[in-house]
Amino acid sequence: MSGKLLVFEGVEGCGKSTQLKLLHSALGKSDRLQQLQQQGLISQILATREPGGTELGLGLRQLLLGYHGGAAMASRAELLLYAADRAQHVEELIKPALAKGCWVLCDRYTDSTVAYQGYGRGLDLGLIDQLNQVATGGLVPDLTLWLKLDAATGLARTHQRGAADRMEQADLAFHQRVQGGFEALAAQYPERIVAIDATGAVDAVAAEIFAVVEGYLQQWYAPSLTA
Ligand code: TMP
Repeated sequence: MSGKLLVFEGVEGCGKSTQLKLLHSALGKSDRLQQLQQQGLISQILATREPGGTELGLGLRQLLLGYHGGAAMASRAELLLYAADRAQHVEELIKPALAKGCWVLCDRYTDSTVAYQGYGRGLDLGLIDQLNQVATGGLVPDLTLWLKLDAATGLARTHQRGAADRMEQADLAFHQRVQGGFEALAAQYPERIVAIDATGAVDAVAAEIFAVVEGYLQQWYAPSLTA
């Protein structure tokens, strides 16, 4: 049995963490999903995130987002810490869960490294692809939901929420480059990345995401689903 990896991506303040929780709870109530669980084709649905999906990862998340060292964190040090978090996460949590037939809903994954460290910090995209390959052992998401929102609107949302973390403190131009990175990725990998308009109300965005996921669910499990 093999589960599915569904990833949420997007700029700061795009609403992905809220939407991941809403999808998690909607899937828990979905008749189709329950039918597949009863047939033993899907196990549990897990929610996790990067950085910070494991105990080691939580420590790395604090370092990455809360670092107050005297010197600025070097971009390559940042890249390697995100990669270390991912390597542990894939090995300890994601791969074993998929092997048990779980659906894993993950808040950020490899595309965030391409967008933030590649397009945002300007590190070499080839090097990032290699590191992502090392960290994941080649594990690619079955579906990536890219919550599309312009960087300025997203940042304004996060600033309303209170104190900004180390990444959110970067200037608007950085976050606009990150947004450009997600756009480039969506153009490069149309088979797995679906753009979701994240400008609307929370409920409307949640409904769009659920409809997209139901569509994939029907496609993935077509032979096992009755009407
Ligand atoms: P979030 O969980 O609130 O989205 O915060 C995670 C932050 O880390 C966010 O600013 C994006 C950033 N990030 C990277 O820069 N590279 C990565 O590979 C990942 C997973 C996250």
